[in-house]
Amino acid sequence: MSRLGSREAAEQLGRRLRLPLIGAPMFIASTPELVIAQCKAGVIGSMPALNIRPQEALGPAIARIAEALAEHDLAHPESPSAPFAINQIAHRTNERVAADLETIVAHRVPIVIVSLAAPGPIAEAVHSYGGLVFCDVTTNRHARKAAEGGADGLIAVAAGAGGHTGGVSPFALVEDIRSWWDGPLALSGCIATGRGIAAARMMGADFVYVGSPFLACDEADTASGHKDMVVAGCSDDVAITEAVTGVRATFLRGSLAEAGIDPDAARDPAKPRNFGATGSSQSAWRDIWSAGQGIGPVTSRGSAGDWLARLAADYETARHSRI
Ligand SMILES: Cc1cc2nc3c(=O)[nH]c(=O)nc-3n(C[C@H](O)[C@H](O)[C@H](O)COP(=O)(O)O)c2cc1C
Repeated sequence: MSRLGSREAAEQLGRRLRLPLIGAPMFIASTPELVIAQCKAGVIGSMPALNIRPQEALGPAIARIAEALAEHDLAHPESPSAPFAINQIAHRTNERVAADLETIVAHRVPIVIVSLAAPGPIAEAVHSYGGLVFCDVTTNRHARKAAEGGADGLIAVAAGAGGHTGGVSPFALVEDIRSWWDGPLALSGCIATGRGIAAARMMGADFVYVGSPFLACDEADTASGHKDMVVAGCSDDVAITEAVTGVRATFLRGSLAEAGIDPDAARDPAKPRNFGATGSSQSAWRDIWSAGQGIGPVTSRGSAGDWLARLAADYETARHSRI
């Protein structure tokens, strides 16, 4: 059987980046300012459509990102910005999917990241203007469905990743997907160093997909205490629990303790699972702070541009060091 996905698409996209990295979308935390900073630094920046409220404000926010990047490109033709992405949480509890998709199409968003569903109709709409669709997946089966549903790129979300996290070893997930997929593949989960990026590339990924380290950045809409906990923490400080929203997700133990939540408590079966697509999950994610297991290497607060510049230098060193 022929392999799915286009190698050429992966290489084309890679040539537009100064570091093979996608800034992962994070509920509440990702802002247009963060996306702009990421793209100016030469990595794909992204944010969930749902972070812009009300829905009518999404179009102007996307236009602001596009304008800021066009201005940057005019002023710095030697270091053009990377394309940006908008994340659609395509879960049935998200009532904004259709309206957000219309806005995305009207603004010809270069890349759409679909989570929690096969891309199907979203892919059709985004392909109509030449946009790319990436899907985040946590299993090989899920990856196949996404590819068959029209995804141009896959994001393998492995164990330890922040937010709704994955449960499969990155070694297994990348090998499984790469056995049938030639197209763009990003690996996600606990990647926060140049060594981590080099390792992911060595394993067969084209890109890394990085979320939690950006929580400590100035441009992220995270509380000061949240940023400090990310900077101070390591994998010991992160619990994976269903106790907050009914869906397995990573939360900082210090924040759970402050809220009086026992991470080992069983899920209340009477409470509906909340995938972060509805209004009531706003307060859960804003007040109870999430981060993935890979926050150990994040040791200071600062701008996204500065962190990415250090990471790029670190990656260069890692790439050229002997194994
Ligand atoms: C606070 C937080 C919020 C997140 N919200 C979303 C979201 O709205 N949509 C989504 O697709 N993924 C979301 N994620 C997952 C990230 O996009 C990404 O998969 C993850 O952060 C990668 O792992 P890392 O944090 O170890 O880098 C979230 C992650 C965190 C830490």
